Amino acid sequence: MRYFPLFADLEGRRCVVIGGGGEAARKIRLLRKTGARLLVVAPRAETEIVEAAASGALTLVNRPFDPEDLDGAALLVVSDDGSQELDPILSAARATGIPINVIDNPSRSTVIVPGIVDRDPILVAIGSAGAAPVLVRRLREKIEALLPSRLGALARFAGRFRGAVSASITEGEGRRLFWESVFDGPIAGRVLAGDETGASEAMLRAINDDRRAERVGSVALIGAGPGDPDLLTVKALRMMQDADVVVHDALLGEGILDCVRRDADRIDVGKRKGKHSVKQDEINEILLTHARAGKRVVRLKGGDPFVFGRGGEELAHLRRHGIAVEIVPGVTAALGAAASCAIPLTDRRHASSVTFITGHGKDGALDIEPALLAEGRNTIVVYMGVSVAGGIAARAIAAGRAASTPVAVIERATQPDQRVLRGTLAGLGALVEEQAVRGPALLVIGEVTAAANALPFPLPRTAPAPVPERLAV
Ligand SMILES: C[S@@+](CC[C@H](N)C(=O)[O-])C[C@H]1O[C@@H](n2cnc3c(N)ncnc32)[C@H](O)[C@@H]1O
Repeated sequence: MRYFPLFADLEGRRCVVIGGGGEAARKIRLLRKTGARLLVVAPRAETEIVEAAASGALTLVNRPFDPEDLDGAALLVVSDDGSQELDPILSAARATGIPINVIDNPSRSTVIVPGIVDRDPILVAIGSAGAAPVLVRRLREKIEALLPSRLGALARFAGRFRGAVSASITEGEGRRLFWESVFDGPIAGRVLAGDETGASEAMLRAINDDRRAERVGSVALIGAGPGDPDLLTVKALRMMQDADVVVHDALLGEGILDCVRRDADRIDVGKRKGKHSVKQDEINEILLTHARAGKRVVRLKGGDPFVFGRGGEELAHLRRHGIAVEIVPGVTAALGAAASCAIPLTDRRHASSVTFITGHGKDGALDIEPALLAEGRNTIVVYMGVSVAGGIAARAIAAGRAASTPVAVIERATQPDQRVLRGTLAGLGALVEEQAVRGPALLVIGEVTAAANALPFPLPRTAPAPVPERLAV
């Protein structure tokens, strides 16, 4: 990180802007919001700047730059519009040590201005160290769409009650929980809906309510998807960022845990094949204990919690003990893998159904109905099937499925090192062994794995397109 993010307090400080064109006018509009004392040095200036000067909002001098303009200045902003020579201005500024921003020219600047989303007093700043301004603009648009327009009003509302809350809830953790319940609950909803009077009344009631400290814990069973963090649902992400405790599996993709609130407690209960690090009963107890302690617990599972995820067992245990449980579905491995390899799991030409089966039954034994394996127009996706691939293939052939049925093995689906192998049902066991598939991997059996799809197979996920030499920088 080359650029250190800072917010500069410019209220009442002197700021010098060189240039009077459209680019300078845009920066002046932003600077005026800070309450800075603006001096604009420009032989010619846009009407907007001239009018601002006439109204007393800034000082405009219609002449070239003079080094004395910088006396006592906190910031210099330069619009390199060709009307003045840049080098003498920059060397005078460097001699004084004030921060210099040359608009759209990071290499000549000592500070750069980020893209911003303004919900004053909430300000979101986004930068790319000058590498990708268009990407920054895209991100800004996305964040703009995400943040309620009255977010600033909510921040001001909270600011008004800060002193009262601190005086009435002296313990830090209790105060944090109180504010979280305000921001996540109906009080914030009222402010955002424009009902500040109703929100203020509710806020006073909450501050004076002794029972607020008896916080009731809850558990969210959340599907984290097959590995790519971009496949998390918006709800999963929001709840992961609100969690007090996250109890998670081992097989979560790289980057998923980075989306969890930084100061949440993390408990790894991951089961790796053949090595049950934490037993299911213990996991149930961990969830229960933390929920009873009033925590918001997130149980984060790979894929979907209700697809070979034992989510049902955890749900039953928690419900038996009266704990509120919310279930947030995730993209199950079969769907993630199929999408990333462009395999339509059903296709009118080849398959009218799809079956998800596990290679490991309740007691570790293969537990699959032969009729499920036999049906020719059915796509079979086998979870946890790597070590029994040969046995599953033999059963399917014995049940009547053609030995030539195409198959695919998809390892670490949707992750940067995804691997896809293809073969036939007869060769499935050998394929898995010869290619040393370690998993997590899915076996996909059916005509759809060989269907002529528009996309190459496997997708070129990791190799970036070569940069033509004349464009290389
Ligand atoms: C205990 S199951 C959990 C399934 C999960 N609940 C889901 O909905 O995807 C674990 C198995 O899911 C499959 N799996 C999970 N993530 C995978 C991935 N990224 N690529 C391929 N298979 C995956 C593997 O077969 C693995 O052995």
